[in-house]
Amino acid sequence: MTQGLFITFEGIDGAGKSTHIGTLAQALCAAGHTVTLTREPGGTPLAEKLRDMLLHDSMDALTETLLVFAARRDHLRCVIEPALARGEVVLCDRFTDATFAYQGGGRGFDLQVLSYMERLAQTGIGLQPDLMLEPHLTLWFDVPPQLAAQRLAGARAPDRFESQSVEFFTRVARGYADRAAGAPQRFARIDSAQPREQVAAQLQAVLAARGWLPGVAP
Ligand code: TMP
Repeated sequence: MTQGLFITFEGIDGAGKSTHIGTLAQALCAAGHTVTLTREPGGTPLAEKLRDMLLHDSMDALTETLLVFAARRDHLRCVIEPALARGEVVLCDRFTDATFAYQGGGRGFDLQVLSYMERLAQTGIGLQPDLMLEPHLTLWFDVPPQLAAQRLAGARAPDRFESQSVEFFTRVARGYADRAAGAPQRFARIDSAQPREQVAAQLQAVLAARGWLPGVAP
């Protein structure tokens, strides 16, 4: 079913991924791809309502996890799967790795339960693991939590996640590192402590190496 390309962007708050997503979308369009740009939590009217609750309303870790997966299920069914079936490139600002990093690493939610919910949301009814929809590539913007905190300081009124401590983000960062270690072919680590131009060059190189963008002349 998945003829298109599914690329996700991950990293702790303040890692700087958002500034690069639009640029990459333009580059992929210029290279002849049809691009769907979307985000999680969100991407559909229902999932955007859930996003608003997740970012602003007080709740426990189980409620948070259930809402994240409810939003994901709707987003997959209504946006991601149809776009991939049309052969498009889907660029998604965060996906399930964020759940493992934030709810698993950050909040301490049981990772085995998360794995089960991942299969449930990404396989649909039937739970056949070989049919689980996963990103083809995950661009992981890795940055020291202290640096991310400096970048976030004073940027805007922080939401429920952005207002967490550096210790929380250290656990989230470890959660991402564990996911990356578990799927090294899918993950590309982007050194997001570098200046913006170097981050952009690294992104270009990762996509060019897979043949999805033209290469840069040596
Ligand atoms: P954003 O600010 O990058 O759009 O992401 C919104 C917040 O939602 C971010 O702080 C991370 C959090 N989040 C989770 O906690 N779990 C998830 O599964 C996802 C997708 C996001």
